[in-house]
Amino acid sequence: MNRESYNKIALEWDNARKGFFGRERAYLDAVLEAAPEGATILDLGCGTGRPMAEYAVSRGYRIIGVDQSESLLALAQARLPQERWILASIETVDIRDAYAGAILWDSLFHIRRSEHEAVLAEVVGNLPRGGRLMATVGGSEHPPFTDLMFGQRFFYDSHAPAQAERILRSLGCRLVLAEFMNVPDGAADKGRYAIVAERT
Ligand SMILES: C[S@@+](CC[C@H](N)C(=O)[O-])C[C@H]1O[C@@H](n2cnc3c(N)ncnc32)[C@H](O)[C@@H]1O
Repeated sequence: MNRESYNKIALEWDNARKGFFGRERAYLDAVLEAAPEGATILDLGCGTGRPMAEYAVSRGYRIIGVDQSESLLALAQARLPQERWILASIETVDIRDAYAGAILWDSLFHIRRSEHEAVLAEVVGNLPRGGRLMATVGGSEHPPFTDLMFGQRFFYDSHAPAQAERILRSLGCRLVLAEFMNVPDGAADKGRYAIVAERT
């Protein structure tokens, strides 16, 4: 569902996602500052490459971007042709190149929660010690749901923040930053929680 839906809204999404929201840039800076100069950053669910990959590249880092939406990935490829873009699903992609940091921004919650630990284990397991990842999870304990964006339906699922934090700790991470970006309102907004974690 999500792949077709993102393909259909690619231009609207690109237009809406021109820059950072809230403290997103600070989270990305926290990931980049832990990576050596010029290192490669893995962006899982990279979308159009803007603003995350674009900013990382402007600071001298290289990007491997992964996304299952052909239309969004084509925009990323056109925007940053020197970087590596892989059309694949986050759950099954096989990344053989080393990376020093990882971005899983607003993408993990599009995947069934039963798969989150395996995805995180793969990402963390391939980070160097001291390497960081940034991720968002849903902001509340809530069953899977679908919602509309630009007239298309999207699937969402997430562990509650405390459980996502437990998983990251159990994988050998310390939490560098963990905070609500938007607090659940008990109605349509299920909340959104930002985490920057470091492999220890
Ligand atoms: C809300 S957008 C966020 C895009 C980008 N990370 C950002 O911060 O603007 C979610 C992205 O995750 C991608 N995505 C969702 N589920 C995915 C999956 N299972 N495998 C690969 N990409 C996925 C979508 O195609 C979309 O580009």
